Amino acid sequence: MSFVPPGGTIGILGGGQLGRMLALAAARLGLKAHIYSPPGEDAPALQVSDAQTLAPFDDRRALAKFARACDVVTLEWENVPVETVAAISVTTPVLPRPATLGVTQDRLDEKRFIDSLGLKTAKFGHVSATEQGRDAFLQFGEDRAVLKTRRLGYDGKGQAVVRSGEEFLEAFKSFHEVPCILESFVEFDFEASVVAVRGVDGTLAAYDPSENIHSNHILRRSVVPARLSPERTKEAKAIARKIADALDYVGVLAVELFVMNSGALLVNEIAPRVHNSGHWTIDGCLISQFENHIRAIAGWPLGDPARHSDAVMENLIGDEASEWRALAARGGALHLYGKREIRAGRKMGHVTWLSAKTASG
Ligand SMILES: Nc1ncnc2c1ncn2[C@@H]1O[C@H](COP(=O)(O)OP(=O)(O)O)[C@@H](O)[C@H]1O
Ligand SMILES: [Mg+2]
Repeated sequence: MSFVPPGGTIGILGGGQLGRMLALAAARLGLKAHIYSPPGEDAPALQVSDAQTLAPFDDRRALAKFARACDVVTLEWENVPVETVAAISVTTPVLPRPATLGVTQDRLDEKRFIDSLGLKTAKFGHVSATEQGRDAFLQFGEDRAVLKTRRLGYDGKGQAVVRSGEEFLEAFKSFHEVPCILESFVEFDFEASVVAVRGVDGTLAAYDPSENIHSNHILRRSVVPARLSPERTKEAKAIARKIADALDYVGVLAVELFVMNSGALLVNEIAPRVHNSGHWTIDGCLISQFENHIRAIAGWPLGDPARHSDAVMENLIGDEASEWRALAARGGALHLYGKREIRAGRKMGHVTWLSAKTASG
């Protein structure tokens, strides 16, 4: 793949806050961003980009025109249909590759892939529409399990904790009996994630893992460094490398981990994109996850992922963003996404607080 020089155009599928932060990072490098977003959505990336296509993801003509206008195309939403990405890649390289999305868009395929690499996960099983009896739960042999739809879940949507055959059936029905994955309920000590970037030439740079606190399944706060020993920090980064190498991945990916009391690391899921738990890198590192993603897909040398500070990133969810004035006065780095409407559970912005670096991880 040829590299994209300054003045070139990065296409981004999706117009949310991740696209916005990618577009801002591209602009800093003298690159242009062209956003492709379905019409009618409150798409904050449109406000900071050079060109916009507002069309559905299955509009072949719009996709072809978009592809011709871009030097390389990436995505900020991992559930962009694989057909959309495949159509674009006829003309223009798409990174991460369509095949990667095929794996990560299906929670069962994803878990099987992780398992095939010899990495640890929660125990998992397959629930299809034909074996919908309560037996599926009972045979699983756990007193508590998490039922998740195989496709299209986010922020805890499309998943339910079940404790009996009855609860299992109820949850399965509420998901309209679409194919699901059943996972053992992991009694983790805490959650962490590692954000890493892999270049076209296979070089890999990983940020220090963050410890992630969720409430109502939505990321509340990321803290860096995480409470991981230097050995576990190394292991987390090695997990990211193993996954990225196996996918011949180009760009930023995030690996969500469950950290057990024993210190063992279980892989929960892979996000084939820049990640909310990496927002702290904008202020805590010289080169952020967003810039490193742009560098990677444009074929540029990667930037140093070392952090200069400890960081705490707090999401501003729903109404919390209306406190922007008070937040601006408190000394953190305030980021607002420019969304038109405040809604409960919606990520409206974030604040990052820095302090002197304590551990090298
Ligand atoms: N098997 C599990 N055991 C315990 N908690 C889980 C399990 N799977 C998910 N969770 C909790 O739910 C959150 C969201 O689940 P996840 O699989 O990451 O889906 P998504 O982030 O796509 O909504 C996780 O961060 C974790 O807090
Ligand atoms: Mg998750």
